[in-house]
Amino acid sequence: MLKNKKILIIGGAGFIGHNLALKLKSLKANVMIVDGLTINNLGSIKKNTNNLPHPKLSMKIIKERIRLIKKYRIPLKKIDARNYHKLSKVFNKFKPSVVVHLAAVSHANRSNKDPHSTFDHSLRTLENSLDNSRGIVDHFIFLSSSMVYGNFKKNVVNEDDKCEPLGIYAALKYSAEQIIKSYHQVFKLPYTIVRPSALYGERCISRRVGQIFIENCLNQKKINIEGDGKEKLDFTYIQDLVAGVIEIIKNKNSLNNIFNITYGNAQPINKLIEILKKDFPKLKIQYTKRDKLMPKRGTLSTKKAKNFINYNSKWPLSKGYKEYINWYKELFYRR
Ligand SMILES: NC(=O)c1ccc[n+]([C@@H]2O[C@H](COP(=O)([O-])OP(=O)(O)OC[C@H]3O[C@@H](n4cnc5c(N)ncnc54)[C@H](O)[C@@H]3O)[C@@H](O)[C@H]2O)c1
Repeated sequence: MLKNKKILIIGGAGFIGHNLALKLKSLKANVMIVDGLTINNLGSIKKNTNNLPHPKLSMKIIKERIRLIKKYRIPLKKIDARNYHKLSKVFNKFKPSVVVHLAAVSHANRSNKDPHSTFDHSLRTLENSLDNSRGIVDHFIFLSSSMVYGNFKKNVVNEDDKCEPLGIYAALKYSAEQIIKSYHQVFKLPYTIVRPSALYGERCISRRVGQIFIENCLNQKKINIEGDGKEKLDFTYIQDLVAGVIEIIKNKNSLNNIFNITYGNAQPINKLIEILKKDFPKLKIQYTKRDKLMPKRGTLSTKKAKNFINYNSKWPLSKGYKEYINWYKELFYRR
């Protein structure tokens, strides 16, 4: 089913993209990556434009990604997807049947600080991908976000609930969803929109909560919890998301639909601490005020994904986070 399928992953050298590419390649798909390598990647780390506290560690992680991409012979085209013509050349030559669009400024707080360039990296790149895909591509897959829902009004949200995005990142994701639907209406481009939440896992440098906590423990720094730690997030291990996207590619029922692809059971942030304490019994915590622009979230229902594409999450936080901690420790102490 996936054998020799031509899949182009735009923004594919990022956290989600390279994990997806590696899995697809292991399933014999014909994968190609396009990535500019400058946003939250090699270029930004070299100059440390995001003021990462451990740039050498982040660089080690990026180099590990690139080593794996090379090892498994996945072609990587270093192209800025804001450039329509350069992107067109890749489409014309590779002729993908599936496109997965991931390129974006993937941080809510960085997007709020620099909306102008965020717009270009997120929406300009998307429009370039869509326009190159219409009439040619059989399936356009876009990574949106749980942030489109805004503050969750109930414990479990589903895909039909009203979206009330909060802040630039969420507004751009929601706009992106509308643009994709319009390409379907006007050009019949088949699409699937994926809404993940609170991802964690190997080779992420995005400094989301799960990663920051491990890095702080490894560097013997205090852990800062914004709020009281009781706030719940639908923490999702990268391998569950990758499995979900693969089901989406394989299953025609996914076409022209939106799916929450998460673990499907929100856990309090304090649960991360509980798991970490097994490896770092002396960890220290401080509590600070939570960011008002961060929506209050919870569980995303995965029922629709189960019914339509037979998606079943397999990684509870207790198992996935432990796996991630083990990987991080091995990398940290590796010479
Ligand atoms: N990681 C999460 O928890 C999460 C959750 C929900 C949604 N998402 C979305 O999924 C997508 C991928 O997330 P990620 O965690 O892999 O992010 P990431 O930052 O690791 O990867 C994004 C990649 O896009 C590339 N890119 C950015 N602008 C580009 C441009 N102009 N041209 C070419 N490449 C460009 C970057 O170099 C980077 O490698 C993003 O759209 C993000 O918003 C992520």
